[in-house]
Amino acid sequence: MSRILGLESSCDETAAAVVEDARVIRSSVVASQLDVHARYGGVVPELASREHLRAIVPVVREAMLRAGVEWRDLDAVAVTQGPGLLGSLLVGITYAKAIAAARGAPMIAVNHIEGHIHAVLMEARGKGGEVPLPALALVASGGHTHLFHVSDDAMRYRLLGRTRDDAAGEAFDKVAKLLGFGYPGGPVIDALAPHGDPRAIRFTAAKMKGNDLDFSFSGLKTAVLRWSQERDLAAEIGARRELLARNARPSVDEWLTVTPPATRNLLASFQHTVIAELLRRIRDAAEQHPEVRAVVVSGGVACNAGLRASAASLRLGIPVHFPRPALSADNAAMIAAAAFPKLARAEFAGFDLHPQANLVLAS
Ligand code: KG4
Ligand code: ZN
Repeated sequence: MSRILGLESSCDETAAAVVEDARVIRSSVVASQLDVHARYGGVVPELASREHLRAIVPVVREAMLRAGVEWRDLDAVAVTQGPGLLGSLLVGITYAKAIAAARGAPMIAVNHIEGHIHAVLMEARGKGGEVPLPALALVASGGHTHLFHVSDDAMRYRLLGRTRDDAAGEAFDKVAKLLGFGYPGGPVIDALAPHGDPRAIRFTAAKMKGNDLDFSFSGLKTAVLRWSQERDLAAEIGARRELLARNARPSVDEWLTVTPPATRNLLASFQHTVIAELLRRIRDAAEQHPEVRAVVVSGGVACNAGLRASAASLRLGIPVHFPRPALSADNAAMIAAAAFPKLARAEFAGFDLHPQANLVLAS
């Protein structure tokens, strides 16, 4: 049996986890900085690295404690190398080096996006199954929207499509901010969308020249902006900002009191369009690659209830796997999971390991 401690600090979550055999999560601790960044309407990089510095020691201690393991029980320390915020990545990498130096555990560098994919593979194993490969993997979060072909050993990736502008989660965040729903936008819009009519507003799908598996969300965001400018929403936006100032996490019912039907319809139609765009690429890619045996969807946007429900009715003839919400969003168990194939190949990082803000998984 092998055991890896994973560290993740690429954006606004400080996380540590102990995972066995890429299957059993002994512990997974995530310290979110949401409350720190919420008032700025997005992640502030300088604040993020400061918060990681504060959190990393207690988070790792907690993960080791909950797992009931000692340093000598670890076969390796895995850490996110990128992509992400440089100052944030640096905190995790420096701490991994400290552990490696002090405890003699080998270090493994992991690509954050590969981690998101392995979250799904790990969860299937935990349930006694296995995601059949080759597979299509859609990773959709606040920072990336990528569609990969994952081949047999879960170590080789081919990029089939990516966003040319905003990431899917970024579109949720920008629309929410624009309409006074605060940050992050995905969870609020997801919760309010069922209260509106998804067909009330017809947004036109982005036409992609060149690679038709690429994504684009900035046109949709602009269409929402235009829609809101054509109406006088100042009063309702003001009411929502007031609500947020009183209560950092309003309930759905509280949001509904300050969200008139037209705006509910807008949110529902926006979400419906994003989901349709994501699923169209999955369907087209599955048609272009008949050898794929499964689809995995991961990243923060994979938490979206509307996306999960619509994916279930895709009828692709192959299973579509979503991780449970805690494993969809940023966490360190997925970083540890992605390190196991590298442990088996003894692909260790040296002390010259440095963060790479734009690290790519495949091109
Ligand atoms: O993977 P993640 O935790 O961090 C990044 O690597 O970016 O993803 C965060 C993103 C945010 O943009 C957030 O708005 C979005 O995921 N998100 C959602 C939902 N929950 C989080 N988007 C749509 N529906 C959700 N339920
Ligand atoms: Zn992520």
